[in-house]
Amino acid sequence: FSRIAVFASGTGSNFAALAKAQEEGRLGGGRIELLVSDRPEAPVAKRAEEAGIPSLLLRPKEFASRKEYEEQIVEELRRREIGLIVLAGYMRLITPVLLEPYAGRIVNIHPSLLPAFAGKDAIGQALEYGVKLTGVTVHFVDGGMDTGPVIAQRAVAVEDGDTADTLAQRIHEVEYELYPEVVAAFAAGRVTLEGRVATIRA
Ligand code: GAR
Repeated sequence: FSRIAVFASGTGSNFAALAKAQEEGRLGGGRIELLVSDRPEAPVAKRAEEAGIPSLLLRPKEFASRKEYEEQIVEELRRREIGLIVLAGYMRLITPVLLEPYAGRIVNIHPSLLPAFAGKDAIGQALEYGVKLTGVTVHFVDGGMDTGPVIAQRAVAVEDGDTADTLAQRIHEVEYELYPEVVAAFAAGRVTLEGRVATIRA
């Protein structure tokens, strides 16, 4: 699983954290070979360019169907012999076109302790609910919205007076640390799954 494609739609700060980890030799044997983005104008595309990582920028709207959009991605992933897909703020559901060939080899990061606050704006959802503890989850991707087996979680306390910005900042810091660690373990084949229970072996 050492050849990695990162999928991202937006700012790309997690993409940058992964690229930095790779540069510093913290991604195990993992190598980011490709950025895939559904928003060619997103800042993440620029970050890939700066990091010298090739990108595949496709607008889903320019395809006849979601299926054809993903088929094009799969073709490119095959061509580059990608073994692991890392979603980092990729804001769309993955369909069986991608899920089937990459079963058990797609991971995502989500800014809450799943199964709490799945879907969009998890940080806003946590603040509105009033929880005192939220965090970050890295999980396998299945056909649902943030429903796949959990690989790793880290808690972040909600502090009095937190705003979406201040809480997001602390959550992001945890993401930048946790995601490279999990991706490194995955790339090294140290993540196993039994039923719904994932384990990172030492
Ligand atoms: C991250 O906080 C990630 O956890 C979240 O989007 C952000 C992307 O930021 N993902 C989701 O909410 C997925 N449901 P980034 O583009 O700066 O890495």
